[in-house]
Formats: sequence, C-alpha cells, structure tokens
Amino acid sequence: MPAPLFPTKYSHFSDDLREFVITDPRTPRPWFNYMWNDRYAGLISHTGGGFSFAETPRDNRLTRMRYNCLPWDRPGRYVLVKDTESGKYWSLSWAPTIDRTYTAYECRHGQGYTKIKTEVEEIAGEITYFVPVDYPGEVWRIRLTNRSARPRSLQLYAFVELMMGNALNDIINQPNDKHFTDVHFDPTAQALRCTRRYWVLNKKVSVSQPNLEWPYHLYFTMTTPITGFDGSLDAFIGRWRSEANPECVESGKMKNTEITAGDPVAALQSEVTLPPGASVDLAVLMAIAPKTETDPLSYLNWKAMRNVETLDDEFQRLRNKWDDYLRAVKVQTPDADVNAMLNVWNPYQAAVTFDMARNSGYYHGGLLFGTGIRDQFQDILGTVIVESNRVRARLLNALRYQFRDGSTLHNFFKLADTGEKTNHSDTPLWIPFGIMEYLNETGDHGILDEVVAYHQSDETGTVYEHLVRAIDYALANLTDRGIPKIWNGDWNDTLDKIGPEGKGETVWGAFFLAYNLRKVMPLLRLRRDVQAQERFAAAYEQLRTNVNKHCWDGDWYIRAFRDDGTPVGVAAHDQGNIFINAQTWCVISGLAPKERGDKALESLKKLLVRPKGVQICWPSYTRVEENVGLISRCVPGKKENGAIFNHASSWAVLSLLLNGDIETGCDIYKRMLPLNSAKDIDRYEVEPYVFAEYITSPDHPTEGQASHSWLTGTAVWMFRIGLDHILGLRTELAGISIDPHIPAAWKEYRVERRFRGKRLMVHVMNPKGKNSGITRMTINGVEVSPGIIDVGSFAGDVLQIEATM
Ligand code: GLC
Repeated sequence: MPAPLFPTKYSHFSDDLREFVITDPRTPRPWFNYMWNDRYAGLISHTGGGFSFAETPRDNRLTRMRYNCLPWDRPGRYVLVKDTESGKYWSLSWAPTIDRTYTAYECRHGQGYTKIKTEVEEIAGEITYFVPVDYPGEVWRIRLTNRSARPRSLQLYAFVELMMGNALNDIINQPNDKHFTDVHFDPTAQALRCTRRYWVLNKKVSVSQPNLEWPYHLYFTMTTPITGFDGSLDAFIGRWRSEANPECVESGKMKNTEITAGDPVAALQSEVTLPPGASVDLAVLMAIAPKTETDPLSYLNWKAMRNVETLDDEFQRLRNKWDDYLRAVKVQTPDADVNAMLNVWNPYQAAVTFDMARNSGYYHGGLLFGTGIRDQFQDILGTVIVESNRVRARLLNALRYQFRDGSTLHNFFKLADTGEKTNHSDTPLWIPFGIMEYLNETGDHGILDEVVAYHQSDETGTVYEHLVRAIDYALANLTDRGIPKIWNGDWNDTLDKIGPEGKGETVWGAFFLAYNLRKVMPLLRLRRDVQAQERFAAAYEQLRTNVNKHCWDGDWYIRAFRDDGTPVGVAAHDQGNIFINAQTWCVISGLAPKERGDKALESLKKLLVRPKGVQICWPSYTRVEENVGLISRCVPGKKENGAIFNHASSWAVLSLLLNGDIETGCDIYKRMLPLNSAKDIDRYEVEPYVFAEYITSPDHPTEGQASHSWLTGTAVWMFRIGLDHILGLRTELAGISIDPHIPAAWKEYRVERRFRGKRLMVHVMNPKGKNSGITRMTINGVEVSPGIIDVGSFAGDVLQIEATM
C-alpha cells in the first residue's frame, strides 16, 4: 500500500489525485464541493449539506441553507435509513445523525460529484451526489449493502427542505412567503411536485411586492416504490424536533401531507428488504421544469431518468467531461505539490470560480453580491483554455454592463439584470485585461467586431470600442498631477474612503492602468489604430514619470493619496505603512526603474513575507482611519487588514519571477499551495484542496487560520502563474512562448497543453541548473530559434517541443 498522499488527520488525496478523501467527518469546518452545469447548480459538503439553485443563488434558490446556524451546515440533502426491527436510524451522509456510531465513514469529493460511504449497524451505504452534464436537476445515487448474516428490512427517508425563489426574501419575509407554497404528490410522476405562487426578483428590502409567479415546478422522486410522502416540513419533522429526529422517521409513518401554504419539504419514504450479503441500487432525483412546458415529464426525460442505469450512464458522462477538461493541461515536474495542484485541483477550482463568481458558497452565501465585473474578467483565465466559447459568451454578456463613457457597473445580477455602480476605479480596466487574455489564448479576433449595446443607452459599440473606451475612461480620470483617481476604492475594495471627493489617488491604479496600456499595445498595432497607439504610449510614459516623481517613499512605493493629499502606505506612518500591490505591480507594469523595483521587492521580502504567503499590508490597522476606510475597521491580521490575502500574494510571486528573483518566487508559490499552507489543519480549518481567500497573519491571535475558501481570484492567478510563468508557456497574440522561471534544482519538466486547436507536448531540460532562459529548441525534431511559436504555421495536430535551458 503506498502511503496516503498529502495526508491531514482528517483526509488525504486519492492516488490519482482526482478525489479528495475525508476519513474523519469531524473536520474543523464543513468541507465543500460543487456540482453544476449551466442550468442547475449546488454546493455539497462532506456531510450532505449545502444548497441548490438555478442560474443565480439569490433570485432562484431551490433548497434552503440556514444561515448563521448551529450546528453548522444544515439542512442538507439527507437520506435516513431505518432498521424496522430495531427502530434505529441513521443518515447516509453522517449529518444530521452525527451522534450515531458509524463503523465506517468516507467522503470523496471529485470533480462535479461527492460520494459518501458509511457503515452503521452492518448496513453499508454509498451515496453519490451529482448534477448530470446538461440536466436541470441533481441525482443522489444510492447503494445499500447488507453486511450482516440476517435478512434486513429497511425504511428509507429522503428529504430536502425547499426554498423555491428569492433566498433573501426567504430570510427576511418567511412568515409571509409561506402563503404562496404548493407541494402535491403527482401519482403519474411518482414524485412530489412543488412550486411557489410568487417570485421576488429584486433585492430591495421593500414592502412593494412584484406580481410574478415562480416559473418552475420542482419534482422530487425516488426510483424505488414510494410508500409515503410529506410536503409539510412541520408535519414531517414534528413539533420541537429537528432534521436529526423527524417524527415520521421515528414513527415509521409518513403523514402524506400536501401543502398549500406552509414551510415546504420534499420528503419521500420507501422500503427495501435485503437478504444477507445483498445490495440494492436506487436513486433520488430532484429536477425543475419551467411551467411553460406543456409536458414537463418528457421535458425532464422522467421515465428514463427514474432508472439507475440511465443515471449511471449520466455519471459516466460527467466523469468523461472532467477527464477531457483536465486533459487540456498536464504537467509533470519534479515537485509533487505543484503537480497535484496544476493537474487537478487548481484548474478545477478555477472552473468553479468561473461559474460561481464570488457568490455561491458557504462563505459567499449568494445573497448579496451577484457577479463582480472585476472578478468576471479575471475568472476566465482557467476556463478559457478549455471552453473558450463559454468564455466568449460570458465576456459579451458582461460588456452589456459598461456605460457609454467607458465606466461600468461594479457587479450585476444575472436574472434581475441589474447591478450597482460603486465607482471602484479599477473595475472598467479589467475589460481590456480579460479581452486580451481571451485573444492571446484563442486568436479569435472576430470577437472584436461583435456589437454590444452600452448599458442604459441606445448606443452600441464593437468589443474593440468597448475595450478602448474602458482605457480612455481611466485616462480621463487622472488628477491634475496625472495619477488615477481612486474614487471609492480600487482592487482593494476596503480602501473605500481615500478619495470619495475625486481628488484622492491610487498608486496601484497607476501601475494597473500602465499595465493595461502596455498589454493592449500589440492589438492596437495589429488593428493599425495609430491614434490609440500614440495616445496610450504617451500615457504610459507620462504615468512612468508621474509615479516616479510623486509616489516613491524611499524604500517602497506609496499606496495612495487621500482627498486632502496626504499619503497612505508610507514609512512615517504607524499603521498601514506598506501595501503589497504597490510593490508588486510597479514591477508587473514595467513602470519601476530597475533599482526601485528591486528595492520595493526587497522591502516586501523584509516586511511582508510570512510562512504561508505575503501579507497584504503592514502593520495592520489597529486604529480606525475615517479617510482610509473599511480596511481600518476590520480586526488586525484578517481579510484586507493585514491578512495573507492570497490573490494579492499570488501577484507577489509573479513580480518576483518577473524581477528575476526566481527562487524566492517559486518558494512562496509552493508555500501558498493549500497542500502546504493547510498543514496545521486544526488551525487552518478550511478545505486543504483549494485556495482560500485569506489566511490570518501574525497580526491576529489566530495566525494561520484560513477563511473564504473556494471563491477567490487566487485560483486563476495561481494556476496561470504556475503554467505561464513558472513553467513558462506564455500566450500572446502571435502565439505561445516557452520561457521558464523554475527552481534551479529542477533538472527537467514536461507540460502538455491545448492551444489553438493543437496539442503542445513540451519537454524542457535544465542540465546546467539554471532558473530561466532557453538556449536551444526543436519543434517536431526541427531546430528553431527560441521565441514565440506561431502554432498555426506547423502542420499536424501535435507539436513536440524540446527545449534546453
Ligand atoms: C474580493 C473581491 C475582489 C476584490 C478583493 C479585494 O476577493 O471579490 O473583487 O478585489 O476582495 O478587495
């Protein structure tokens, strides 16, 4: 038996790395996974918790998650098994019956599915939760095996608490919301058919009600014969009880309640008898059909889907989909940690962030934020390699929220088609960033001529015009001395009170603007847009002059200037003296002269680097500064007030690599991998298989504790920094180049990558123990000069690239 991979006391990875295996359910927090497609989505914890939704988690929530509740992570998608002889019952997902004696427990989070195996009272249970590849529903595939020497008669109770509609309204107005629910048993479907008679689509806490119907029926069925049901949560659970001891399960008798009004549950009972050693296969299926469908059961392919063989085929399809997805990038380096992350969990997390934004998680509860424009244009970075068509559609959609002056909403809500304009100064600039990344990957210049209307305007513009306007908007928002106005914040959301009057400045914003000016230059050249080229090149140089004239503090770059002109992020202060983004992006943008870039990164290394990554600012604020903002109200050492904020920390890695400090960059990269940062798991607490948004720094007594796992820009950046910069396969308009930045100890590595319809098989050798630089290269056996590879000029689908450092 090989030793378990990357073990913690609760868990390890499967040998093929594709599954994260939890062996002790008493983890420090619920550990989640996702199952989803474009039509239906859910998160699922290792105890069966989490919620489901369609399209958006606020406006179209299907099942309930109870916020701020104890015990954690309730309710969920539960199946209780009851031994009719002894009367004992237990859950197949451990919760909610966590006080029973489980002789075995194991949870496997895979890509798009979660499988929980248990054994209680000599009944082995296996429940696999998944959302099929393109079905508007979810499956709980179950197998029960009688491991005892006697025949067993079992009752099964599958249930889920329903929400159906606006999740925020369900919290603030549930006693009135209850007057609109319907749950009925549909004998033809052998299912509970559930709906709500109205639908709140706006998020305003407002007494004026819309006059809309929730447009779906939700069906809930089991594949074994149904012996009873309940639609009333009260009736099923009983008085003064919880999901851990429902009255109907204890009595063994369902009440067959149907509701018009009341708290809805979908609860079904079934019975099986199992001879010694025998198994039974069954499933629970929950799906939604629009009310406009005249034949909802054929729409849902009901007959076939109520059949375990079909569901097993669906599961196989899902596995194949993810095999294909992950095949897009395969790496083989001398470092097992890097391989584990880059081959499976990092691209998987990136796929989740692309579809969930910062909005559908245990820590991002789906009630507030919608999709952030800034986040959207970054979160494409993983998915674009594999599913560029979906990315294309997403970009075109997001551009609808750009105004004709080039500014944008800050966030938007898919179904409600609204959003907020918050005046975060950086947000529009992520448009050129994202579009350039899309073009660099795909070479699909056709997108630039697509026409998209400006928000709340009759005017339309091509994608290219949208891109140029975003930059021109930023150029129109400089102060008299030519530094970008910060307005209500920039990438750091909580630097929100530095410049509300329109005089305060963002130094990071100057670097970010310059970075974008430089990034779009090859495109402007290609389009022969001489005017924009001249405008942007001049602006770039002017920014260089301005920041270096006004924004250097002696050992590092200042972070910002307030409306009253006083600086933020200077040595002379007693808190918030140095901010990470100004030191990293001065290098990433190319604006820092070599000497200052070196010095800024030296200061970063001296003052901000911690064992698990790089601190976002230091010292953390301990006193409120009204004219800095929310950051100073947050407790020191957490979140943006001085935590290791992984998204920004990843940029520190990037800047160190670009600046030639490759060993340090690679070292921090490695320490940031959750496999490593989560090693002290009882302190770290959250999932050790995906990046968390932040880890508390030494400025907080819980140093090393992570939070806000899953939905963070860290996922795409760490993936692409690993792939593009460490392994060095960097995409550009003209093609792809191989430009490694690796630890000198790596003797060789391999990367396979899909790119513009070809498969690149890259083998890099490092006989001299260097950190960077390719000296010799062959493609398909033919010697070429190292540089950009125009893959289109090579015949065949596969390019064998041999490179020597
Ligand atoms: C969150 C937001 C992101 C922001 C960051 C720092 O991750 O989603 O947009 O830049 O916090 O404030």
